[in-house]
Amino acid sequence: MTLPTIARELPASSGGNQRVQRQLLIEAGKAEAFGKPLAAMLMHALARTVPQAGEVGRLLAAWPGDLAADAITFRLSAGLHALARTGRAPGLAFLYHGEEGAAEPASTAFDRAVLAALTDHATQLGRWIAHPTQTNEVARVAGLVAVLMALNARAAMPCEVFELGASAGLNLNFPHYACRMGERTAMAAASPVALAPEWRGEVPEVRAVEVLRAIGVDLNPLDPACPEDCARLEAYVWPGERARSQRLAAALALARAHPPHVVAGHAGDWLVGALAAPQGAGVRRVVFHSMVMQYADPFERAGIDAALAAAGARASPARPLVRVGMEWRADRLAVELRVTTWDGEPGSGEAKLAALCHPYGEWIEWRGLA
Ligand SMILES: C[S@@+](CC[C@H](N)C(=O)[O-])C[C@H]1O[C@@H](n2cnc3c(N)ncnc32)[C@H](O)[C@@H]1O
Repeated sequence: MTLPTIARELPASSGGNQRVQRQLLIEAGKAEAFGKPLAAMLMHALARTVPQAGEVGRLLAAWPGDLAADAITFRLSAGLHALARTGRAPGLAFLYHGEEGAAEPASTAFDRAVLAALTDHATQLGRWIAHPTQTNEVARVAGLVAVLMALNARAAMPCEVFELGASAGLNLNFPHYACRMGERTAMAAASPVALAPEWRGEVPEVRAVEVLRAIGVDLNPLDPACPEDCARLEAYVWPGERARSQRLAAALALARAHPPHVVAGHAGDWLVGALAAPQGAGVRRVVFHSMVMQYADPFERAGIDAALAAAGARASPARPLVRVGMEWRADRLAVELRVTTWDGEPGSGEAKLAALCHPYGEWIEWRGLA
């Protein structure tokens, strides 16, 4: 079933269970499209059971915001995953332990386990629903690495990286990761953290990338040395994604040895100050964000655009500014890697589509910077 078909399966409604069920079916379609059968199964089970789910069902039905933009179904999935991981929802844990790509568990067993978790752990799930999502997916940073290499192919220079919405800062550690693009490997080839997206399209030439400093901002920075913070990130991995869980654990372990620098704050406010700091001649300033803009309000997003445009107006070939954003397209059906370079040359400030990406970095369809 295609995504538009699923979206039409239930009519849009102004509120209530139908609105929640419709969103769950949309998310099930996305999970299927992005190769996550267990997550799709969970979304279908939730769509069937949510009307009987008492307090959690009522909380979802009465959600005042946009269910998609607030990623409510993902918050719920993380809460259920946390219950399964800590043994408090044994029925779900049993179903989640299937091998990746193994036969799907029977839907009735899934419905029973999901409904039991929803009704037995309403308070805890309510807390997960109330808190914004917080992933930290290192595979997403492969797109940034490719962009930095493509930029260095044009004009090699060291860079400084500012990340908006950096979470635990794991993406700031990209110089410590092995980044495999087709047959080529960039950055730290022997790293225990290997990013290996399925590379579609031309493979950028591997270039040395010198990172002078990498610093991020997040509303709620997570600490790789704090077990609760690590558990939170692990819950936000979809059930059944063993390779992703292992990569996250390896990146968290590496971050304990190389702590990333993340400050607490609003991306928009922080960026104004960061862009005002002096930029050395011959240094490329790069502002990176992945899966963040949907959470910033329209005023903050406009402020970020304006701060970058103002700093871009001061940029030059010797002090270029680059924005690299990996974000959902406005229709939320694809994730785009967009690159804007300001350097005072013709074309300065034009956003370019450099790649289409899997939301968790499993594949990159590279278009280049031309
Ligand atoms: C979905 S996570 C993505 C994290 C990371 N960029 C990645 O791709 O793994 C979104 C992150 O953005 C942060 N965030 C959301 N709104 C923000 C804002 N206005 N300012 C700073 N951080 C924000 C959240 O706290 C969260 O850590």
